[in-house]
Amino acid sequence: MALHQHWSWLLMVGLASSVCWAEPVKVILDTDMSTDCDDVAATCILNQMHADGEVEILAIVHNTGLYQGIGAVSVLNTFYNHSKIPLGAYKGTFDANATGQGGANKTGAYVADLVEHFPSPIKNYDQVPAALSVYRQQLAAAANNSVTIVSIGFMTNLADLINSTADEHSPLSGIELVSAKVKHFAVMGGNYLHYSTHPEWNFGHNNIGVKTKFVIEHWPSHIPITYLGSFVGQEVVTGAAMTNQLPTTNPCRQAYVDFNGPSNGRFSWDPMTTLLAVRGIDQFYDSVRGWNEVLTNGTNVFHNQTGTNQAYVAIKGDPQQIANAIDNLLLKSEAQNAQA
Ligand SMILES: *[C@@H]1O[C@H](CO)[C@@H](O)[C@H](O)[C@H]1NC(C)=O
Ligand SMILES: *[C@@H]1O[C@H](CO)[C@@H](O)[C@H](O)[C@H]1NC(C)=O
Ligand SMILES: *[C@@H]1O[C@H](CO)[C@@H](O)[C@H](O)[C@H]1NC(C)=O
Ligand SMILES: *[C@@H]1O[C@H](CO)[C@@H](O)[C@H](O)[C@H]1NC(C)=O
Ligand SMILES: *[C@@H]1O[C@H](CO)[C@@H](O)[C@H](O)[C@H]1NC(C)=O
Ligand SMILES: *[C@@H]1O[C@H](CO)[C@@H](O)[C@H](O)[C@H]1NC(C)=O
Ligand SMILES: *[C@@H]1O[C@H](CO)[C@@H](O)[C@H](O)[C@H]1NC(C)=O
Repeated sequence: MALHQHWSWLLMVGLASSVCWAEPVKVILDTDMSTDCDDVAATCILNQMHADGEVEILAIVHNTGLYQGIGAVSVLNTFYNHSKIPLGAYKGTFDANATGQGGANKTGAYVADLVEHFPSPIKNYDQVPAALSVYRQQLAAAANNSVTIVSIGFMTNLADLINSTADEHSPLSGIELVSAKVKHFAVMGGNYLHYSTHPEWNFGHNNIGVKTKFVIEHWPSHIPITYLGSFVGQEVVTGAAMTNQLPTTNPCRQAYVDFNGPSNGRFSWDPMTTLLAVRGIDQFYDSVRGWNEVLTNGTNVFHNQTGTNQAYVAIKGDPQQIANAIDNLLLKSEAQNAQA
């Protein structure tokens, strides 16, 4: 009996290492879900990887102050049967009347449609805690050096976190919490190689540059930061297959149809950043080490330097491989349904 148990234990360990991911990557996703649809792809692939055991989503927070924004996140999580994932939202005023990409205003083309026509327990930010509180609670509860933060929007919440002091969740400051608990910070933002006096959207839109600069400058220098820049994201188009192949009951598909019409993909800044945060950089990218100088208007200049905690990525190989990896994750929920 003892021998039998011993062998079955070894067999399980063997299976675990070959079939499952050794340990899921613990992720907090910080999204501006609203003006562009690539936040939807990012959130949907993260949910799929959570379902697959590749990721453990600790929390998702919204960062623009859009009332229904976190409701759209809740719709996507609910579709994947993950309605209990902790959510939080930035509740300050930001971007009040801004015109967004794709001709949409801050509300975006799809947020209200998802919140009003798909099921979710959360409809707006009155129903969730402040993102800062969610960050601090999750980081306080996490093991040292275990959390990956993925920033695919504006650094409103992250500035609050870095600026925070002791609260009911932890006696540590925000910087101390990040320093102890975070293992990787993946950031969609900035321009690399193609510099411009105009800031990249996430880094500089609507005077957010002051906060972007604050976060990057105060980030603990031993915690790695990976940047995926504007131009890299435009090399990869995803989502069109989903609009053609998934049913109208799928809210990920609906957001893309609302934004672009059917059969059209979208640049993949946010799902690319999310995928590399989970699967690592090396499969699809080369990285260039250095440090990011962010100006108060959000313009950035990357200074090449060895031995730093920061790097930006450049695609190696065929960008279509990255598109396929993202589209396959987007299509997978339907494949599972078909099997069931
Ligand atoms: C959610 O759960 C239902 C009921 O078990 C299942 O039919 C459906 O495929 C699940 N959704 C996803 C995206 O896995
Ligand atoms: C936003 O637009 C509304 C209506 O046009 C206006 O009353 C308000 O002052 C504007 N807010 C900002 C911050 O510009
Ligand atoms: C913002 O966009 C939404 C959705 O397209 C639209 O309903 C709303 O009227 C717009 N608001 C303004 C102030 O343009
Ligand atoms: C940090 O907090 C202080 C005090 O509350 C505030 O004055 C300052 O504007 C904050 N800085 C940022 C970048 O949020
Ligand atoms: C976690 O890190 C802190 C310092 O950042 C250290 O004081 C503490 O002992 C560590 N805890 C564990 C369990 O290693
Ligand atoms: C941002 O600031 C830099 C440095 O002052 C300046 O060169 C650049 O023109 C500014 N960009 C914009 C869009 O104001
Ligand atoms: C930084 O390194 C990259 C990759 O090697 C190179 O393409 C770029 O020209 C370098 N930038 C500067 C300013 O030397």
